[in-house]
Amino acid sequence: MAITILSARDCSRMRRAGAVARATLQAVAQSLRPGMATAEIDALVRRDTEARGGTPSQLGYQGFPAAVCTSKNSVVCHGIPSANELLELGDIINVDVTTRFAGFHGDTSATFFIGDPSPEARHVVDVAKRCRDVGISAVRHGARLGDIGASIEALAQREGCSVVRELGGHGIGRSMHADPHVPHHGCAGTGIRLKAGMALTVEPMINLGAADVLFLDDGWTVVTADGSLSAQFEHTVLVTREGCEVLTTPDCVRAGSAALAEA
Ligand code: MF3
Ligand code: CO
Ligand code: CO
Repeated sequence: MAITILSARDCSRMRRAGAVARATLQAVAQSLRPGMATAEIDALVRRDTEARGGTPSQLGYQGFPAAVCTSKNSVVCHGIPSANELLELGDIINVDVTTRFAGFHGDTSATFFIGDPSPEARHVVDVAKRCRDVGISAVRHGARLGDIGASIEALAQREGCSVVRELGGHGIGRSMHADPHVPHHGCAGTGIRLKAGMALTVEPMINLGAADVLFLDDGWTVVTADGSLSAQFEHTVLVTREGCEVLTTPDCVRAGSAALAEA
């Protein structure tokens, strides 16, 4: 299918959607605490998104029953918030916020520590964040889709972690999920060429153990097959001639890898 090239006007709407999603994720970051149920994160995301004039994109998406994905420890992604699931000291938890605003979607996630992390937890979370950022630094007009995945996979392997292959990033705009699919593994110099005005997400899921995952029979939750920890970070980015514009950072960052290091 054709990949949308956003007009200047639609790019500014995407910036606004990205900013709203990011703000809600920051509100979550400030309220996470031990003893909190993941259902409380869901309630906060609904309230905060509404207060900002947005709507939670994930609520009801293909039947997804919540406004946010909460993925704890060995949950790779698409965890469903629950009143029975409490945050405990030593947990890691990814919170994935997607918000529709001004007709466009912003999609961002981060993995948080509850209390002091074990060295292993710290490692997988650190690697996941660096994998996202190295993937983003490969994004520019004329680069190939495979350049993103190759850079992520190389870093993860160097750090003794593995990259989940069954799920990837995606184009984003008027739809939450659009073409192209963005693999977080692969070969540099392969795949479609990125063009200025495309919007996509980079959201590698990084496992401390093996890459294999299982899909639970709730229809959503994805877990590591070996029970090892998994971490993820996600940004929505806009491809530009020079690099890309990260739409879901606190201060919108324009440029390539050098500027991103400070983001
Ligand atoms: N925000 C998720 C992503 O990054 C979308 C999850 S779809 C849901 O693509 F239905 F599980 F919410
Ligand atoms: Co996404
Ligand atoms: Co997301």
